[in-house]
Amino acid sequence: MTGFASPEARAAFIAGLPKAELHLHIEGSLEPEMMFALARRNGVKLAFDSVEAIRAAYEFSNLQDFLDIYYQGMAVLLTDQDFHDLTAAYLDRAAADGVRHVEIFFDPQGHTARGVPFAHVVSGIARALAAGEARGISSRLIMCFLRHLSEADAQATLDEARPWLQLIHGVGLDSSEVGHPPEKFARVFARARDLGLKIVAHAGEEGPPAYVWQALDVLGVDRIDHGNRALEDAALVERIAGDELTLTVCPLSNLKLCVVDDLARHPLRRMLQAGLKATVNSDDPAYFGGYVNANFIAVANALDLTRNEIVTLARNSFTGSFLPPEAQAPHLAAIDAWAAA
Ligand code: HPA
Ligand code: ZN
Repeated sequence: MTGFASPEARAAFIAGLPKAELHLHIEGSLEPEMMFALARRNGVKLAFDSVEAIRAAYEFSNLQDFLDIYYQGMAVLLTDQDFHDLTAAYLDRAAADGVRHVEIFFDPQGHTARGVPFAHVVSGIARALAAGEARGISSRLIMCFLRHLSEADAQATLDEARPWLQLIHGVGLDSSEVGHPPEKFARVFARARDLGLKIVAHAGEEGPPAYVWQALDVLGVDRIDHGNRALEDAALVERIAGDELTLTVCPLSNLKLCVVDDLARHPLRRMLQAGLKATVNSDDPAYFGGYVNANFIAVANALDLTRNEIVTLARNSFTGSFLPPEAQAPHLAAIDAWAAA
């Protein structure tokens, strides 16, 4: 036990560590209990008749298996209040895990395609984020394009977002990766960058290293979401390390979606050893079995992470965030104070 007397001591160290979460799909924080409550409130019929039946359906053999259920779950989200309540519940969980800053993804096309106005989605989320700021959790909102849809659909979504850009800090790319390479979205990401938005993309979760290269060279990403398969290409690892790009890694997601077959073989330590700025995140915590601390604890136990490695992961979460350096500094000092105590 590297630097810890017991697994309990390691878990307590992790729990008290200030951290940022940089890879969280707000729709993926929809717990089955809330799914039921919102279905009742909105008169939506669910395909499941109990919370237990929903949880039992959360067995996935790949990303697409999960996405099929994830898009079904969204059907209960209709009003501004629904998006507010979803986001507020996530912020409560995050605060309990010592999270001080969040950068949240949302999938507007998953809602506008069902007739939910873009305005309801963004205003509900933003209202909860503003209340979170008042409670001491800072935040950024990142709008993701669904990569299984066309670039024209993404362009129309960016048009729809124009009146809301004071609330949206960046754009991302998610959904079914294989068959939908980053280059499919070259023009819409170029336009987003011209609008002053930060750029992130899921790459190398299931897709090959070539997709990570495209995220870098075609989209010009400021950060890579997942990035696991980058490790298959030494030149790519050197590039990511040289550019000091952060990877938002999601251990329990990787396990549930069979990106790794065993957390003991998770690439997180290899990423750190290769000089990559990896972070730990929960992705879709309601579906993958845990929020950010559960992810830290599971991967730290499986890999026997040292105190220094855990502190590095927490520091990376702030230095890899879109907070300006002067806003990162107090968080980094708080991490160092906790680690020294
Ligand atoms: N990968 C791709 N798309 C997603 C994910 C993910 O892990 N979660 C929600 N949408
Ligand atoms: Zn994700």
